Amino acid sequence: MSRKPIIAGNWKMNKTLAEAQAFAEAVKGKAPSADLVDTVIGSPALFLAPLAYNLKDDVIQLAAQNSYFENAGAFTGENSPAAIADLGIEYIIIGHSERREYFHETDEDINKKAKAIIANGVTPIICCGETLETYEAGKTAEWVEGQITAALKDLTPEQVSNLVIAYEPIWAIGTGKSADANTADETCGVVRATVEKLYGKNVSEAVRIQYGGSVKPENVAEYMSKENVDGALVGGASLEAESFLALLDFVK
Ligand code: G3P
Repeated sequence: MSRKPIIAGNWKMNKTLAEAQAFAEAVKGKAPSADLVDTVIGSPALFLAPLAYNLKDDVIQLAAQNSYFENAGAFTGENSPAAIADLGIEYIIIGHSERREYFHETDEDINKKAKAIIANGVTPIICCGETLETYEAGKTAEWVEGQITAALKDLTPEQVSNLVIAYEPIWAIGTGKSADANTADETCGVVRATVEKLYGKNVSEAVRIQYGGSVKPENVAEYMSKENVDGALVGGASLEAESFLALLDFVK
């Protein structure tokens, strides 16, 4: 089965509104056709509404970097999936290792968020990945299998077919030390095998799996050539318009 590639930038907590809008102006009309690749900008929540307005006629889609799992209520400082959906945002990244580490998000939270996001018609990009310690202990596969099994708990086969999973080894994030393409493919394969174990072959062949961790224009094509890698979730190299667009050159 052929899966459409998905390249998503994750700006993390970077940019001002003026910088976000300048970026949108610089990339507008320049991403490849949505028939070839899904192109996504993961922006801080504050800039999603103006970016959605600015890019409303463009193929580029938007992602929030987090949401809560309730749609309304007394949850100071949080953003609901309903409000994000209302802006026309297509994706919400959840379970990023920075959120797990600094904001103490658990597998259970991530599962609740996945369900709430899907219920609001938005696609979750569910992150998983191991620490350097786990990697060096040779326990990556069991770690990632555990994270994915917990994140997908009680989701239906159809829901899982349509979501995106991002494998991001923590030791490769922002370090310039990327997992080589074969290692990325192997662990994305573990994610796919986990989905197959839980939901069967049709679902595991449909779900899209990204690699993230020091992906840049120079190495993206090699990752994308791998069987189990359907896309990339990119931090640093997604911050400049030129570099972001260059991440898409592999489809040419
Ligand atoms: O979510 C993307 C990310 O964590 C990878 O960051 O800067 O290594 O591409 P970076």
